[in-house]
Amino acid sequence: MAAPRTPIVAGNWKMNLDRSRGVALATAVAGRRGEAAGVELVLCPPAVYVLPVAEALAKAGGDVAVGGQNASDKESGAFTGEVAPAMLLDLGCRYVILGHSERRTLYGETDAVVNSKTKAALAAGLVPIVCVGETLAEREAGRTTAVVTEQINGSLAGLDAASLEKTVVAYEPVWAIGTGKVATPEQAQEVHATIRGLLAGLSSAATAARVRIQYGGSVKPDNAAELAACPDIDGALVGGASLKADDFLAIAKAFAGRKA
Ligand code: 13P
Repeated sequence: MAAPRTPIVAGNWKMNLDRSRGVALATAVAGRRGEAAGVELVLCPPAVYVLPVAEALAKAGGDVAVGGQNASDKESGAFTGEVAPAMLLDLGCRYVILGHSERRTLYGETDAVVNSKTKAALAAGLVPIVCVGETLAEREAGRTTAVVTEQINGSLAGLDAASLEKTVVAYEPVWAIGTGKVATPEQAQEVHATIRGLLAGLSSAATAARVRIQYGGSVKPDNAAELAACPDIDGALVGGASLKADDFLAIAKAFAGRKA
C-alpha cells in the first residue's frame, strides 16, 4: 500500500509582479484557501517580495506557505548578490525551489551546485523543492531516463533518509515550461515512477514512498485533473498560471481529491 502523501501545489512567480500585485495575489489565495482543502499551498515570489508576501499571508491567517526561488549554498559572507537559506527562513519561508531549469541553463547550475544548495537549505531548516527534467532534444534522443537519473542522483547525493523524506522533487520537462505543451499524463507518470525508483535506490522503498514529486510545465486548470489522477504525481509546480488566483486555486483544487 502506498504511503499517504499530502499533495503540494506551489506557485513559482519567477521574475513577475510588483509588490502590490504580489501582496494582492497572496491575499486572494489565502482568502480562498478553503477551495483546495487538504492540499499544501506554497507561493514563491521574487526574493525581494518574500517579506511583504509572508506578512500578507500571516495577516490573512491560514496556512499558505512562502518559498524562495533560489538560495545560496553558503551560510554568510562575501557573496555579493546572494541570499542565504537562513535569510529566507528569517523572512518566513518554509520552502525554496532549487535547480530550476532556468537556473541550470541560464545560470550554469550543475548537479553538484544543486546538491550543495540542497544540503545548505536542509541544514538551515528549509524544505528544498529540487527540480529536474530533460530538454526536447534529450527526449527525442531517447535520453530522458538517463538525464533524469543523473540529475536525481547528482542533486540528491548524500542525503540521509530523513532529509530525503522532507525534500520535494519537481519533474519539469524543459520542453513543457512556458510553452503550453504539457506532458501527457502517461509521459509524466512514467518519469515520476522512474524518479520514485531512483529515490528508493538512494535510500529505501519506504522512504521513496513518502517523497512528494510534483509535475511542472504548462500546468493549467484544464489539464491539472488528469495529472492529479496519476499515482506518482503528488502536486504541481506552477509558473504562468500561478499568477492568477483563479487558475492557481483551480489547479490546487484538482489535487484535493487525490488519493495517494
Ligand atoms: P509554466 O507553468 O509557466 O510552464 O512554468 C513551469 C515552471 O517552470 C514552474 O517552475
